[in-house]
Amino acid sequence: MSYEMKVKEQVQALREAGHATILAIESSCDETAAAIVKDGREVISSVISSQIPLHAMYGGVVPEIASRKHVESVDPVVDECLKKADMTLADVDAIAVTYGPGLVGALLIGVSAAKALAYAAGKPLIPVNHIEGHVSANYIAHKDLEPPFVCLVASGGHSHIVRVDNYGEYTLLGQTMDDAAGEAFDKVARVLGLPYPGGPLLDKLSREGNPHALNLPHVKTPGRYDYSFSGLKTALINAVHKLRQNGQEVPAADIAASFQHAAVELLSDKAVLAAKENGSPVLALAGGVASNSGLRNTMNDKCQKNGIRLMMPPPVLCTDNAAMIGSAAFYRLMRGEIASLDLNACPSLKLV
Ligand code: KG4
Ligand code: ZN
Repeated sequence: MSYEMKVKEQVQALREAGHATILAIESSCDETAAAIVKDGREVISSVISSQIPLHAMYGGVVPEIASRKHVESVDPVVDECLKKADMTLADVDAIAVTYGPGLVGALLIGVSAAKALAYAAGKPLIPVNHIEGHVSANYIAHKDLEPPFVCLVASGGHSHIVRVDNYGEYTLLGQTMDDAAGEAFDKVARVLGLPYPGGPLLDKLSREGNPHALNLPHVKTPGRYDYSFSGLKTALINAVHKLRQNGQEVPAADIAASFQHAAVELLSDKAVLAAKENGSPVLALAGGVASNSGLRNTMNDKCQKNGIRLMMPPPVLCTDNAAMIGSAAFYRLMRGEIASLDLNACPSLKLV
């Protein structure tokens, strides 16, 4: 029987049973990750191999280095993940992989590995959108969460407010007009001399500073749920340069705290407004920036005041990982959305 025929029968059986254990691979940026996830909600094992130390000396991700490191890491990471779960490839029902958005060379490593595993084991191949993966991390953290709900996705490359209408169905409510939230965090951190990726370090530093030390511009955007971080970032960077030119000391903690406060107010105000105006009793957070301590605290307060239930994955499920890909893959599989073996990487893949 051909691979396609075999897989078609399996998908039908899995959909009828409503159960599947999925091996997922993620390699869209600077983490090589694999996870085994049962029924979209239960993580059996998860392994994340970070390349951050390799890129830190260049101040950002170097795509060519990322691809080379993914080549080295993907097989050992998958092996370790299977070993941790005490499973072999024969024990999983399908192979899932992030096919976009992300760095094309990095994505291709995961896609090629997943295709090879799917073909060798004769299992279905499930293509997953990385952003959908971030949203789906909430299904792992909150077993009772079901669409519809509003979700803020804030990562290094994206800042979206989406309405999750159903599994795999999204309405874009707003997005950034310029920099992504994580990108702005990283750029401000860099000016303060913090190594890449500066977001988490800026978060830590900001706890020691005064959030009202700097007068920052009020951000205006055309859409009520749209974001803009570039003006805020530039104002901060200019303030630092001015202090340095005048030979004055740069109060790094105050600058970090002022930026974080302004960015968090902006992110939380618009996301809460979107949840309220869309009649969503739930607001979910997703993406690397969702692990920011200021954002988590402020969102908690604002959601409580507005009678909205806040859902957020633990920090390890907010930053890049493969468990979130395995979760999103389950719902795709249940809809019969699988890929053929000519699946390609889509660096600019959109969620909506
Ligand atoms: O979702 P993610 O791991 O990768 C992308 O898909 O982009 O997000 C990474 C981004 C980086 O810009 C990183 O600095 C930021 O998330 N980030 C944070 C924090 N942790 C990660 N930004 C602010 N505060 C944090 N605690
Ligand atoms: Zn990500």
